[in-house]
Amino acid sequence: MPIQSTEKIWRNGQLIPWEQANIHVMSHVVHYGSSVFEGIRCYGQPTGAAVFRLPEHMQRLIDSAKIYRMTLPYSLDELCAAVVDVIEANGVAPCYIRPIALRGYGEIGVNPVGSPIDVFIANFPWGKYVAGHGGADVCISSWNRLAPNTMPALAKAGANYMNSQLIRMEADINGYAEGIALDVNGLVSEGSGENVFVVRNGVLYTPPLANSALSGITRDSVLTIARHLGLPVVEQSMPRELLYIADEVFFTGTAAEVSPIRSIDRILIGDGSTGPVTKQVADEFFGIANGLRPDRFGWLTPVKVDAAEPVTA
Ligand SMILES: Cc1ncc(COP(=O)(O)O)c(C=O)c1O
Repeated sequence: MPIQSTEKIWRNGQLIPWEQANIHVMSHVVHYGSSVFEGIRCYGQPTGAAVFRLPEHMQRLIDSAKIYRMTLPYSLDELCAAVVDVIEANGVAPCYIRPIALRGYGEIGVNPVGSPIDVFIANFPWGKYVAGHGGADVCISSWNRLAPNTMPALAKAGANYMNSQLIRMEADINGYAEGIALDVNGLVSEGSGENVFVVRNGVLYTPPLANSALSGITRDSVLTIARHLGLPVVEQSMPRELLYIADEVFFTGTAAEVSPIRSIDRILIGDGSTGPVTKQVADEFFGIANGLRPDRFGWLTPVKVDAAEPVTA
């Protein structure tokens, strides 16, 4: 789906016209992938709109930058305020928000420290991410996720997404909606842009972060919701074949939200329909995000924008 432009983008503390938010081809990031970024959603509420888990996302941006020795010249509060400013300036909700901190135009050597750090925040409408109504047909990727101590998986860095692109393109070419990658030891890791959850005999499982999975904010939300609902949850390494014999499997992610999986490598998961645990968790997640259930965990940051109808792909 092509990007739907809005009017303004926040750049280094200023709101500038969307068309002027450009960088030079010789910027460090273009050659070496030196960026860290976030993906956040703002949901329509019964009145107005609200950003889902804004401080947690911006803290992860700061953490990703720290891993890459990038000192961001803005505090957590300033970054959160900037997100609210750009959404309110554009008056677009629901929307997806893309903050990015990158190494700009300075030096061409691999060492990034001589290149300036530029921070941009854009927002725009974006609908459903994982295809498949009533459940996605996915595959196990032939590509592994990042090996430990190579590209840090806990940093949401632009360069990591070269690996994600390989996973996603392979899935697409072979007729699947998405790919699930294993880690270098052959254990379940995550999708190209989603964490994975498995339900078996009433227990909810997800791989631990040590299996090269991103510390997903939606993953954390689902773990929190499941505990609140009294569902047993276990962060545990999983062999690939556990996915095939699961009762239910679903993806989580800001873009993917809670997305049920119908089949993996053409093996039907359960009876192929969305399972009761997936449904229970998804109902609570969407209920909170859309302001239809109590914000019991304090996850919503209100913005002063009248929300349009939810966007669909
Ligand atoms: C590789 C990867 N894993 C997991 C996720 C899910 O993370 P979150 O729920 O914070 O969006 C994402 C999306 O950001 C991702 O790109």
